[in-house]
Amino acid sequence: MSDDIQCSVEYNGRILHGKTDQPLIDFLAEQGIDLPHVCYHRALGPIQTCDVCWIEHNGEMVRGCTLRTANGMKLVSEAPHIKAAQEEGLDRILAKHELYCSVCEHNTGDCTLHNTVADINPAIQRYKYQRKPYSKDHSNPFYTYDPDQCILCGRCIEACQNVEVNETLSIDFTLDHPRVLWDGGTTIEGSSCVSCGHCVTVCPCNALLEKTMQPDAGPLTSMPERIKRPLIDAVKTLENTLGAPPITAVSVMDMHWRQPEIKRAKTVCTYCGVGCSKPVSQFTGKPSDA
Ligand code: SF4
Ligand code: SF4
Ligand code: SF4
Ligand code: FES
Repeated sequence: MSDDIQCSVEYNGRILHGKTDQPLIDFLAEQGIDLPHVCYHRALGPIQTCDVCWIEHNGEMVRGCTLRTANGMKLVSEAPHIKAAQEEGLDRILAKHELYCSVCEHNTGDCTLHNTVADINPAIQRYKYQRKPYSKDHSNPFYTYDPDQCILCGRCIEACQNVEVNETLSIDFTLDHPRVLWDGGTTIEGSSCVSCGHCVTVCPCNALLEKTMQPDAGPLTSMPERIKRPLIDAVKTLENTLGAPPITAVSVMDMHWRQPEIKRAKTVCTYCGVGCSKPVSQFTGKPSDA
């Protein structure tokens, strides 16, 4: 019923009209405005783990993903202290995630993390990326998990525990290096995972990745690791002198180059009777409408 009630919201001095009692991030998206966010997902609601979506609401700095629209709200996202808080949140995430977007299979246009980095466009990465002492899990036929790229946002946990109610996934924050666990610490293939794929579709980066998108998802992604690794290291060194924005500009260009060769479709999960629909992507290696 509340969908029909309209409201006016002041956003950076502009008056916006739309539905009342709607998640603010969705309301803004419908107006063509992106409030930077990483852990919020329309289907999962506010998880509040990324600390990127800061906004000023009626004079108080809050996480934007927690807000729902109401008539007369006053919002500011452009103030320097808000921008600084958003950037701090993003910087902390990047200490858990190595950015190598132009050689990454996930730079498809659907990478929430890449798109947020491009949006905030930080001048330099301030916190050093910390590698985690785990190897990648390839054991499932459909998807992989790379702990080194996992930002611990919790989206996959929410999808598996509370939407699919399969209760396979958890994160053990008591570990020295927290990571996502399948049934408390087994391989994906040895776990109760039913391969519904929901966790993969909501992961905001390449920590969970469909095997159909690996390894040649873009012009540079299939190069052997012995070439890729020194290239990534060289670009990181370059970032210290050039700053991050020119490197981000290249990865945004690369994302656009790939678009014609990515086929997108919706699939329906047949695991239970609910029949949730999920997006799937496949790299075709040729313009997908050819
Ligand atoms: S997952 Fe996204 S942000 Fe991370 S390297 Fe790949 S494209 Fe870049
Ligand atoms: S694929 Fe489905 S069942 Fe398996 S871990 Fe992901 S959400 Fe859970
Ligand atoms: S695997 Fe993906 S969705 Fe799950 S916590 Fe890590 S980054 Fe988030
Ligand atoms: S989107 Fe609000 S804390 Fe992550």
